[in-house]
Amino acid sequence: MTAAPSSTAADWRQEWFEFEEATYLDTAAQSAMPKVAVRAALAAIEWKKFPQRMPDSAYEEIPTRVRASLARLLAARPEEIALTTGASTGMAAVAYGLDWKPGQEILTGKAEFPAQFSTWKPLEEREGVKLRVVAPRERFLTAEDFIAALTPQTRLVSASLVRFDDASLLDSARLAAACHAQGALLLLDASQCCGAMPMNVALSAGRSGRPKDTLLAPAVMFTPNSWRSR
Ligand SMILES: Cc1ncc(COP(=O)(O)O)c(C=O)c1O
Repeated sequence: MTAAPSSTAADWRQEWFEFEEATYLDTAAQSAMPKVAVRAALAAIEWKKFPQRMPDSAYEEIPTRVRASLARLLAARPEEIALTTGASTGMAAVAYGLDWKPGQEILTGKAEFPAQFSTWKPLEEREGVKLRVVAPRERFLTAEDFIAALTPQTRLVSASLVRFDDASLLDSARLAAACHAQGALLLLDASQCCGAMPMNVALSAGRSGRPKDTLLAPAVMFTPNSWRSR
């Protein structure tokens, strides 16, 4: 005998288009969009057809609402959320928003997502900093690998929370604590997991855990002009 689905599970099914013909597991390259996102994308396309009809709320209210709901999803505060057109743009904003000193180091992982290299490598010439690539000591790259590579010059560790190539999950709390202890920043690219696993990015050390120097470049980046499913 199978148990009847709970009402919450039944409600969630209503949020997606009928999928009975396939067991579809590719939630990376082409993931299914929930109905609510399809409706929002269609509304945005209508605005593009007739931009003169675009309501003022598209510029003010919607970003505010999106920041508030993302903050709920991530246990953050709305003012801690920046909306960008993608993870790479968010990382670029961090790269060019920080003051760098020559000799400082940025750590990233071996074979990381290309945005890591296209964001940080140009800073070597521009700022005199050094991008160091951390290799896994065993099969998967771990927080311990990064911690072992930290030096007093390390200003930033930039890594995927879940890797795009091998799906390994970084122990971000452990790495954040180590970075924080020596005044380094941690940038987590959550493109492969944001929204798919519980995430708590409470900002200050006093607010449930995350040291205040962690920056998150999450997957779910919504702007009125660029609605994306992931
Ligand atoms: C780890 C990771 N970072 C970033 C991205 C996407 O970057 P952007 O949002 O700039 O297109 C992906 C897309 O697959 C990814 O897997």
